[in-house]
Amino acid sequence: MGWRTASALRSAIISYSRGFSPLGTRIRTYNLGFLGFGNVNRTLVQLLGDREQELRERYGISFRISGVASRRLGWIADPKGLDLKGRGFSRAERNADFNAASAAEAHNVRSWLSAAHADVLFEATSLNAETGQPAIDHIRAALEHGAHAITANKGPVVHACRELRDLAAARGRRFLFESTVMDGVPIFSLFEQLPAIHLQGFHGILNSTTNVILGEMEQGLSLDEALKKAQALGVAETDAAHDIDGWDTAVKTAALINVLMDYPIRLDEIAREGIRELTTGAVRNGRRDGWPFKLVCRAKRVGDRVEASVAPEKVLSTSPMGKISGTSSYIYFETDIFPGLAITEENPGLYATAYGMLADLVRAVA
Ligand SMILES: NC(=O)c1ccc[n+]([C@@H]2O[C@H](COP(=O)([O-])OP(=O)(O)OC[C@H]3O[C@@H](n4cnc5c(N)ncnc54)[C@H](OP(=O)(O)O)[C@@H]3O)[C@@H](O)[C@H]2O)c1
Repeated sequence: MGWRTASALRSAIISYSRGFSPLGTRIRTYNLGFLGFGNVNRTLVQLLGDREQELRERYGISFRISGVASRRLGWIADPKGLDLKGRGFSRAERNADFNAASAAEAHNVRSWLSAAHADVLFEATSLNAETGQPAIDHIRAALEHGAHAITANKGPVVHACRELRDLAAARGRRFLFESTVMDGVPIFSLFEQLPAIHLQGFHGILNSTTNVILGEMEQGLSLDEALKKAQALGVAETDAAHDIDGWDTAVKTAALINVLMDYPIRLDEIAREGIRELTTGAVRNGRRDGWPFKLVCRAKRVGDRVEASVAPEKVLSTSPMGKISGTSSYIYFETDIFPGLAITEENPGLYATAYGMLADLVRAVA
């Protein structure tokens, strides 16, 4: 090693130990709280562990996990950090870790955020399509506490997006939700990069579970057998009826209309039909004839209103939607500048959803 390299390395090490990364970025440590500890937030903990060094060195973000909560786990917090990174995630192991480390007292979301000294909340509780609760209250509490709120839960985006964004702005914090539609694909962020563009409508396939189910039914499985396959992949909603009856797609459609078309649509204004009535025979025949069934969402501006629907449709097998299989999803935006702008997401896993939340963390604090 030449003396110049050695000296550069020495100054990098010195600046790192003084709270700067080797790239000269100031390092700040954030306390993270995870509310809901199922597929999404557990995967996010693993992803954060994988990217820990990169976050610190490139973005100056260091973190400790200071809060974990769910109905069964209770409100667990330790402002100095819970010791669960890189460990297994069996329930027994988690409880043992948490009980040993849980130093602070908390009985509800507000006392838990305080006890954890949370700087960022990751909200990933189950979807309540009808009201968005209690996730809305969780996010409101986080913003009022002074934390950024990042969610994969579509309920708050559909039922309280404007209120929560205004609250975040008033508190100088961010309310971000990139993982709510098409996992971590930057759809909401994309439109932030497209100022003064007007979205006239969109259509697509947004629900992985029904897409997996329809693919399995084409192979001869019943709807119930096919659902078990989707559940094994971890992509089904906690209550799979939300997927099968089209609620999940309708909620995503509403989120896109609310945020990207700036039109406050109610869920009951979206004509909704799921795949429950489709038989294995009909699904097999559709594929055989070159017109497979897909659960398709559609939205269109009509005058000063937006009309939207979710329904199974037969689509040409060689068309972009006909080629979407497994956990893949697809969206086609119609804008006044780009007449057709399409995004295909091929077979994402849970890491894609977790990635959207990690990217939101960087957007919020970097
Ligand atoms: N899985 C995906 O691929 C995916 C993709 C994008 C978005 N999402 C969204 O992300 C969220 C989480 O999905 P997931 O797959 O992680 O679900 P999950 O595995 O069923 O986990 C849900 C978690 O939320 C907790 N929970 C539910 N209701 C709660 C409440 N009222 N208070 C506190 N904790 C509560 C549950 O634990 P307890 O039962 O112990 O309370 C559990 O830990 C959902 O809103 C979903 O729509 C999921």
